[in-house]
Amino acid sequence: MKLSSAQLEALERDGFLVLPELFSAAETAAIRARLPVLFAQDHPGNVIERASGEVRTTMGLHLRDDLFARLVRHPRLIEPAQQILGEPFYVQQVKVNVKAAFSGEVWQWHYDFATHKEEDGVPLPLALNLHVFLDDVTEFNGPLYFVPGSHRDGEHGATLDTETTSYPLWVCDQETVRDLVGRNGMVAATGGRGTALIFHDTLLHGSPNNMSPWDRAIFSLIVNPVSNAYRTPTRPDHKHHRDLTPVEPLDDDCLSAADAAA
Ligand code: SIN
Ligand code: MN
Repeated sequence: MKLSSAQLEALERDGFLVLPELFSAAETAAIRARLPVLFAQDHPGNVIERASGEVRTTMGLHLRDDLFARLVRHPRLIEPAQQILGEPFYVQQVKVNVKAAFSGEVWQWHYDFATHKEEDGVPLPLALNLHVFLDDVTEFNGPLYFVPGSHRDGEHGATLDTETTSYPLWVCDQETVRDLVGRNGMVAATGGRGTALIFHDTLLHGSPNNMSPWDRAIFSLIVNPVSNAYRTPTRPDHKHHRDLTPVEPLDDDCLSAADAAA
């Protein structure tokens, strides 16, 4: 699958791209059906919400489940990434951010490169974050908020927040957010299940807690050029995978083929 030149231009202008209906209802249902078993595992990649005890994020999924092993090589994700990056890249991080109904907690304002640089020694903000909505994402159940164009300012400055949630995150301060939102506004990334997002490493984003009765699970694959790999990684493999094998796409029906084989 190839992005159009208009889509590539929008990604460069805004720092993110929304691709509605990239995956079918059957595909997202098959992916979502794998989650209960993964949630039940005693695995360091399962990070639990402090207040509710629900899974906040479940990581390293392509090494824990065969369907996720195929999803990280899906041509509808990998071919656009090849087009954008134009050089070989590896699987840096694979997770589902769960944000359970009633209790899913906030992701503070941040940009991903702050963590990639500070925790892993990644030299440049070249990584791409590729999301697939596994539930319908609305204004009610904790959508991502993007600040369009904020990626073009490069790094924004960040500090490590280990207090707000159970997931340590390099976050931006209120003054920075006020300034960037004041200049650029903000957008809620909503859409039906199967919608995909692509966004850049210095794009300012976050998401509010989920007080709605609807779950909001989102799959996230971060890919990074091999030439830009971690130099001084401090985090466990499930937070930044050490395997630098370049990703090659499978066939378009790889998810249903996996189901048929199961
Ligand atoms: C979220 O799942 O709401 C946050 C995801 C991200 O920071 O990439
Ligand atoms: Mn992020």
